[in-house]
Amino acid sequence: MLGISRPSLWIRGVKVSGRRWVHEASGAPARYGDAMTNTLYYGDNLDILRRYIANESVDLVYLDPPFNSNATYNVLFAEQDGSRAAAQVEAFTDTWRWDQAAVAAYEETVDGGGRVADALRAMRTLLGGSDMLAYLSMMAPRLVELRRVLKPTGSLYLHCDPTASHYLKLILDAVFGVERFVNEIAWKRSQTRSSISRSFRRAHDTILFYGRDKDYAFDVQYKALSPASLKLYKAEDERGRYQAVPLLVSGRRNGETGTVWRGIDPNTRGKAGMHWVTTPAKLAEYEKDGLILWPDKEDGMPRLKYYLSQSPGVPLSDFWEDVDLISSSAAESLGYPTQKPLALLERIITASSRPSDVVLDPFCGCGTAIDAAQRLGRQWVGIDITHLAINLIKHRLMDSYGDTVTFAVVGEPTDAASAADLAASDPYQFQWWALGLVGARPVEQKKGADHGVDGRLYFHEQTGAETKQVVFSVKAGGTGVNHVRDLRGVIERENAALGVLITMQDPTRPMRQEAAEAGSYADAWGQRYPRLQLFTVGELLTGKKVEMPMFARNTTVAQARDARAPLSEQPPSGGA
Ligand SMILES: C[S@@+](CC[C@H](N)C(=O)[O-])C[C@H]1O[C@@H](n2cnc3c(N)ncnc32)[C@H](O)[C@@H]1O
Repeated sequence: MLGISRPSLWIRGVKVSGRRWVHEASGAPARYGDAMTNTLYYGDNLDILRRYIANESVDLVYLDPPFNSNATYNVLFAEQDGSRAAAQVEAFTDTWRWDQAAVAAYEETVDGGGRVADALRAMRTLLGGSDMLAYLSMMAPRLVELRRVLKPTGSLYLHCDPTASHYLKLILDAVFGVERFVNEIAWKRSQTRSSISRSFRRAHDTILFYGRDKDYAFDVQYKALSPASLKLYKAEDERGRYQAVPLLVSGRRNGETGTVWRGIDPNTRGKAGMHWVTTPAKLAEYEKDGLILWPDKEDGMPRLKYYLSQSPGVPLSDFWEDVDLISSSAAESLGYPTQKPLALLERIITASSRPSDVVLDPFCGCGTAIDAAQRLGRQWVGIDITHLAINLIKHRLMDSYGDTVTFAVVGEPTDAASAADLAASDPYQFQWWALGLVGARPVEQKKGADHGVDGRLYFHEQTGAETKQVVFSVKAGGTGVNHVRDLRGVIERENAALGVLITMQDPTRPMRQEAAEAGSYADAWGQRYPRLQLFTVGELLTGKKVEMPMFARNTTVAQARDARAPLSEQPPSGGA
């Protein structure tokens, strides 16, 4: 069904000291909603939702699933030393095939009966056994789970593009009920995304907004007044700029707003009668506060002074053209290809949740929704199926919030045994996870230029100094002296400052001897470090660190901005 293998879960965690995140304790896993807040889950969101997330425990769901756009998501890391083209790491392949796994997912939903089953069956009639049906069969059970975890006042925003938005809307109508549809938001991305030779440029994404029940929580959002609206506030007094707005508007009313006030009978005004915009009591209050402008002419209309400072702005429509896509050079960019702008998520979270509410992103990527929720004082839960994403989010949160953020990570190996499980079930994810432990990033798994290198870490010994690199080799299975020898060759070939071999097993004596033969690296101050270093995963898990120049600054992955410091004190983004 999915383009990558389904991971199993590693839940025998222990509390890891010296880190600012904690792994879930072993034993019966706490279901979210009982105790744990601010949690990152590594794994398939369908498993995680069913296993951990309690009914009606979440206030807002934002999901930005892969779009079935038949593209391969590559994480593009710009090289730091300027000497290479971009290396790519395949993070996630968003292609779906109508295969056995897809048929099983389809049948599970259809066998469950109800409106969603009807909708999916109808889609099969329409689409046949196609890749689109495979995609929708993957999405349907997840959307059912997401509705289950929403509180009655909660809401869901599904971010997608025109490839599947119309089919997804039908599935959502079946899951939530047609009457729970609130908005189809068009987010105008500032950059165009397609060839324009035979179509209009595709410039927007679609965000489908549903309320769980009719009383879903929502706070209207406003944007700044346009220059034309600002011009209406021409008058000024000691309280500031204001415009004079009518107190009487067309149409007769029988109630309080249709009564005579200060000698004016609204029924006798206008072509067919008028009424006051508010009650006589409120009008009297306005008058007492000196807010009413009385006309000079006897039959003139009184007006109300409406100050610029009272105006919240223009209520936002469902067409959002004021939030730019993140460019790769933007300070906010972490190099994750599908990263969404913080401003977009802040808008959604502010509109549909309140401080301390719980925000869930089940396809959280590099964690934009998580970051925005943290910034806005919400609690959050994030789920992603790749260690690359989970590692990025951990760094993003620590760069932005330092010690002020605490969170749990569930599903990561926390000891040698669970690391061995991961290595056996998914060597690719094992590599990504292990490289995350040392702050390195994986390289493309293709033969060629990167042969023998599983990961890289770039550093600067001092500001403005040349970029240096550490090359990593990660071995999930058996190891021997030949691996150390190979890495020695790679260090030479790549002209790397250091090389690190990460293994599951303890290195043998010949391996240590071969590593010692590689000599040492001297930093700018003449301090020496072993050129080839050996680590077991167990050592890294207990906090052992790569020996590196003392003042080295890791520039491998773009640093998120420190959310605690004023912008003026922050360095420009450096990195991917
Ligand atoms: C479009 S990206 C999300 C980007 C995110 N909104 C951001 O701003 O970074 C989709 C993410 O969903 C993850 N993903 C795909 N299938 C998943 C699944 N079944 N369970 C959990 N995560 C999944 C992918 O690894 C990818 O990071």
